[in-house]
Amino acid sequence: MSEEEGQLEARLEEQEEFEPSEEFVSQANVTDEGIYEEFEEDWPGCWEGAADLLDWYEGYDEVLDDSNPPFYKWFTDGKLNVSDNCLDRHLEERGDEVAIEWVGEPTDEENRTFTYEELHREVNEFAAALRDLGVEEDDVVTMYMPMVPELPVAMLACARIGAPHSVVFAGFSAEALATRMNAADSEFLVTCDGYYRRGDALDHLEKANEGLDGVDHDVEATVVVDRLGDDGHGHDLRDGQHDYAELVADHEGAEVEPVHRDAEDMLFLMYTSGTTGKPKGVKHTTAGYLAWAAWTSQAVLDIKPDDTYWCSADIGWITGHSYIVYGPLALGTTSVMYEGTPDYPERDRLWEIVEEYEVDQLYTAPTAIRAFMKWGKQFPEEHDLSSLRLLGTVGEPINPRAWKWYYQHIGNEECPVVDTWWQTETGGMMVTTLPGIKKMKPGSAGPPLPGLDVRIVDTKGEEVEPGRAGYLTVNKPWPGMLRTLYQNDERFVNEYWAEYSDTDSDDPEDWVYFPEDGAKIDEDGYITVLGRVDDVINVSGHRLGTMEIESAIVGVEGVAEAAVVGGDHEMKGEAVYAYVILEDGYEGDDDMRERIVGGVEDSIGPIARPEAVVFTPELPKTRSGKIMRRLLEQIANDEELGDTTTLRNPEIVEDIQTKVERED
Ligand code: PRX
Repeated sequence: MSEEEGQLEARLEEQEEFEPSEEFVSQANVTDEGIYEEFEEDWPGCWEGAADLLDWYEGYDEVLDDSNPPFYKWFTDGKLNVSDNCLDRHLEERGDEVAIEWVGEPTDEENRTFTYEELHREVNEFAAALRDLGVEEDDVVTMYMPMVPELPVAMLACARIGAPHSVVFAGFSAEALATRMNAADSEFLVTCDGYYRRGDALDHLEKANEGLDGVDHDVEATVVVDRLGDDGHGHDLRDGQHDYAELVADHEGAEVEPVHRDAEDMLFLMYTSGTTGKPKGVKHTTAGYLAWAAWTSQAVLDIKPDDTYWCSADIGWITGHSYIVYGPLALGTTSVMYEGTPDYPERDRLWEIVEEYEVDQLYTAPTAIRAFMKWGKQFPEEHDLSSLRLLGTVGEPINPRAWKWYYQHIGNEECPVVDTWWQTETGGMMVTTLPGIKKMKPGSAGPPLPGLDVRIVDTKGEEVEPGRAGYLTVNKPWPGMLRTLYQNDERFVNEYWAEYSDTDSDDPEDWVYFPEDGAKIDEDGYITVLGRVDDVINVSGHRLGTMEIESAIVGVEGVAEAAVVGGDHEMKGEAVYAYVILEDGYEGDDDMRERIVGGVEDSIGPIARPEAVVFTPELPKTRSGKIMRRLLEQIANDEELGDTTTLRNPEIVEDIQTKVERED
């Protein structure tokens, strides 16, 4: 490092606040500080502006119907169609502009570009094909697909005909697919033969077929996209399975009138992990969700129609839904979609893509930024990144060092960094700086967006002093919020509202949403999110339920009991630590360890792979028999242990500690 660079790093290291550059501010979509006050004064009317970003067949009667909390309704009785909003309405002015710029992993493969007109055509053709296969309005269509352009096509085709989609991340296992199809009673599947990952042509259809074998009801039709061509694995399509390209060709030129959906009709389901072993089917609706995705894309990501914007998440997670597909396309911009990983074929792949497509905004995850930082600045330095105007992060807390590295080496100290806190359930961003207005504080996501009432409270619901750790709560509804858990209103109330609400009341003031995150707030109202306070862990920005992993481990022959916690991990944020008790007669050897890891991969997917499997004859338990997970976490993190005197079996703690040390 040169002396000059050294000085720069030292200066940045001490700097705690950063102002957006004048150049950025001069062109930003939102620049009036008064917006916070305006939204507070005109609540919930302030959200009319978000609804105005959309085209409606019929206007809505009321912005918010809060007569039956927490079952809020937004933009009541309005009629619209999401596919129309993301495609048709752009055709006249922007039909020839690129909607999706798709980059495959192999560098010698031609990229696929879809203009709005081309995307519109393919969505219409596929929508017609889905109808012919028997998909009717309100049927749930499952998509088990990697990052291929047919995934957004299928999502928009479903939206066009009013069939909610349920996208299952391609990295999830066959069993996870079956569980989700069963939970949603979904009779249709769109999947793919395979995809490329670090040079390998992965077989995806085999997993999809195995998943289909586990579905407990009849599946009417499956559509299979041929991604791999000659590199495919040669599966014959089964009865009831159709080739995507053939279907589209059979419906060439078809036009499907977008269905007029009610504002509150379901747009999609997304299964996410919670405290219990069973994934939660988060239900998002048409108007509120799209208005939220579009408004936040414009206000926070500063997207303009002429931009080339890139979110490097996977569409299998909420980030990809809201900020690869719906938000950007509603605004008529160009959204980049990349199939592969950042380190293939080299560690500069992302920067090569930013340079080639002159990307304006990049939205990625702290785990990726930590990897870039570890690989070194020489990789971004090989490329011209001057097209970048804004950087974003999402998914987990970002440590100030990684934030500053991103700001300095990717953004050249010219791009604001928006650290956006939100969740599958919130539909879109909730806590972050508005980049044209607010200063940034590395490590702190920022203030709540205008119009949101976010508070940091203690266990009784009283607001805590600035600087003190508490629990994050949202005290007023917002348009992008989940409406319920699919077919389970009771669980919806229990999971998100029961903690801080008076659940007998029908006064919305008595209802408080609890996202199960810990947080603190500073004197300026900036919120630092500390992480989950439930049994959910966050591995590389992927949300996993410890109970789900435990039940996968207990399903392995020879395992009697398991406890899973998240241990700190330099790159992944958190890693899975599994403490396992075996049945008599079984050995805690490498073979057993492999079977446990394999069991987790089969049941959930490789993302949930335990980093450490620790065999122990007992787990630390309280006198009432509850596993002391806090202790297990402290052991995983090599931290000083809290009070062990209330344990039934304190002697086991030291024993486990030595085992973990040996693993290291
Ligand atoms: O703990 C918070 C963390 O990710 C959780 C939500 O995960 P998921 O529903 O999968 O959605 C991820 C993408 C929106 C939250 O409860 N989280 C998300 N963003 C941040 C974050 N933690 C700290 N800072 C963030 N910016």
